[in-house]
Amino acid sequence: MELPFAESWKIKMVEPIRKSTREEREQWIKEAHYNVFQLKAEQVYIDLLTDSGTNAMSDRQWAGMMVGDESYAGARSFRHMRDTIERLTGFRYVIPTHQGRAAENVLFSYLVKPGDIVPGNSHFDTTKGHIEGRKASAVDCTVDEAKDTQLEVPFKGNVDTGKLDKVLADHADKVPFIIVTITNNTAGGQPVSMQNLKDVRRVADKYGKPVIFDSARFAENAYFIKTRESGYADKSIKEIVKEMFSYADGMTMSAKKDAVVNMGGFIATNKQDWYEGAKGYCVQFEGYLTYGGMNGRDMEAVAIGLDENTEFDNLETRIKQIEYLAKRLDEFGIPYQRPAGGHAIFVDADRVLTEVPKEEFPAQTLTIELYLEAGIRGCEIGYLLADRDPVTRENRFNGLDLLRLAIPRRVYTNNHMDVIAVALKNVFDRRHDIKRGVRITWEAPLMRHFTVQLERL
Ligand code: F0G
Repeated sequence: MELPFAESWKIKMVEPIRKSTREEREQWIKEAHYNVFQLKAEQVYIDLLTDSGTNAMSDRQWAGMMVGDESYAGARSFRHMRDTIERLTGFRYVIPTHQGRAAENVLFSYLVKPGDIVPGNSHFDTTKGHIEGRKASAVDCTVDEAKDTQLEVPFKGNVDTGKLDKVLADHADKVPFIIVTITNNTAGGQPVSMQNLKDVRRVADKYGKPVIFDSARFAENAYFIKTRESGYADKSIKEIVKEMFSYADGMTMSAKKDAVVNMGGFIATNKQDWYEGAKGYCVQFEGYLTYGGMNGRDMEAVAIGLDENTEFDNLETRIKQIEYLAKRLDEFGIPYQRPAGGHAIFVDADRVLTEVPKEEFPAQTLTIELYLEAGIRGCEIGYLLADRDPVTRENRFNGLDLLRLAIPRRVYTNNHMDVIAVALKNVFDRRHDIKRGVRITWEAPLMRHFTVQLERL
């Protein structure tokens, strides 16, 4: 008999978590104004708010923390991190930052000017924020397949190169660079194929434009290339990663995801002019060039984490856990963005709470129901997050309305996945009784989902 699949690690340190009663949760979520960002972490049993900075480090990463070099300038830990990044990506200029959005801030301060247009595949919110905040615009060129959650295609995160070519044909003079997000978080943690990265490079070269990868989950992307794209099955993850980055001019990185740490980020490139142009902003916003907002110990942990997480076994353990949860949801017929992505399951709330009108925020309603059911904290990636149209001030109901269940790396077991699946099933079974959603009582003008206050209808 073939041996079943199991994790490629064993557990050395644990952190207790606590269940609560439905009564307690009713009270807590009311006090939080029905916004899960406002809950205290102790009020959560299984926390799926994000996979960012919520990972469990390895024994070797913790050991690295002890030998971190905290020198202000010239720290050995910086060189360890820089050399690892260069070995993995081929980029020799590295600017450390405290997290991913800080990398965007530093690099875009140099590259993005008012009136610019930055095409890409579903820019992440902070990426979009750093573009729009500079009075430039982000144009989404994601493939249309990403909008149909039930369509089963292997690389739903891809850039539609036809759309990209059109943006460049119309506005090439206004485009400072193209940004490709790997994996595509907003479209459901969906990967981008190697062929697509090559095609983007070809279009970029046609117009003489540079390409940046928003690389937060680049290792998970490499896993999908290896397992789904023909010609890559026999290549190592490190070989695939090297090839991926050969099609880019630079990267911004949130190390809080695929470097499997709790804090950190960086910019890497081979363009000396970008390095020279951006480094002053690092000093201004982040810190001196050999720490840029990170502790020496954190740079050590990033270096080790990057190396470990570009190994197949570690990634296989990770992605198989997401697949496991997806299979459980399939058993219960719960609709989510198919196929399961790299870091999360995105439940299609519009298809679950069919009787809740969109004006009453079905995905947020589902997020609240799941919390009430079992103390599980997911995150709405839907109409609340989409904010209002800046001109009409109307809610934007044209995108998807999803409940994201982001799985931290190496934190929960498949028993937890079973709890999540059954809790969702219980909500799903009574979906026709849920006819009303929520109403906004207070909201911020931008990025409202973090602080919005709601009441149940
Ligand atoms: N790019 C992508 C694709 C991301 O998913 C994130 C963060 C960032 C950039 C910004 O990085 O948080 O280190 O400043 N995503 C988190 C999430 C917050 O929950 O998806 P950061």
